[in-house]
Amino acid sequence: MLYRCYAKLNFTLEILRLRDDGYHDLASLVHTVSLADDLRIELANELLTRVEGLDIDPETNLVARAAERLVSATGRGSRVGAELSLVKRIPAAAGLGGGSSDAATTLVGLNALWDTRLGLTDLVRLAAELGSDVPFFIRGGAAVMRGRGDELEVLPPLTGQWLVIAVPPHDVLDKTRRLYGSLQPSDFSSGAMTQQAAERLRNHEQLLFDHLANGFERAARAVFPGLSDAWSQAEQVCDRRFFLSGAGPALFTLATDRADARRQLGKLADSNVVAHAARTVKHARASLRFAPETRIGYP
Ligand code: C5P
Repeated sequence: MLYRCYAKLNFTLEILRLRDDGYHDLASLVHTVSLADDLRIELANELLTRVEGLDIDPETNLVARAAERLVSATGRGSRVGAELSLVKRIPAAAGLGGGSSDAATTLVGLNALWDTRLGLTDLVRLAAELGSDVPFFIRGGAAVMRGRGDELEVLPPLTGQWLVIAVPPHDVLDKTRRLYGSLQPSDFSSGAMTQQAAERLRNHEQLLFDHLANGFERAARAVFPGLSDAWSQAEQVCDRRFFLSGAGPALFTLATDRADARRQLGKLADSNVVAHAARTVKHARASLRFAPETRIGYP
């Protein structure tokens, strides 16, 4: 069976506070987009994972870890096994959630292949053990993430919003931890921007530039060498604002339609970012559909 592992963009990402357990409480409006990895999952005699399109393999590790976690949680798979072949297209460690999406898809795919029949709650619990934003990718679509990222409120998705994603060169080790570690109290905000943006989706309205925000902006400019230059160059050639996704360094902007997105790709061709056109994807999996505003993972 072939699965698509969609990337995400954070239309808003607000950091609310540092918690006693060392994590930060967030409010973030996230959405899956059409940029995707492919994950083929087949029965095999043992558990095998391989990857194409990436030299380093933290993402394969996350697929392998997800598979091992499902085996230990259910006791299945140790006899039957599976072969997982990942074709990477989502740039790794860029703020686009590629590794987390691969891990969530592994849980969903193996749950089907091995007929382990875990329900949504159990899948989300295992996902949260693999990383704070893995639960979102069990379902995908549009959601507000709260808590450390694992509390989800499902929202009506944006339909056919075109976007341009621009990824500057980057190789910052242990990026997520470093970015969180570089935050200052002045980077924290109330969550009001996220509420406002979420309200637009509840009302089936499009997002405008003024609804987008990211609390990692200052820290990302400080941590990623060359990010500020790449950022202003992208804004100059496309004549519009770009926003950070996740902890960066991937940037994105809104496009009016497919033709506009393509035009912007042309303008970015000579810059030092790798640019992709993408559109919003309403849910990652047809088999896991929930009514809008379902809450997942709330105590
Ligand atoms: O949960 P995950 O493994 O993705 O998080 C990696 C690191 O990022 C954590 O150890 C923590 O330092 C930081 N983090 C945080 N607040 C969050 C999510 C992650 O401080 N909400």
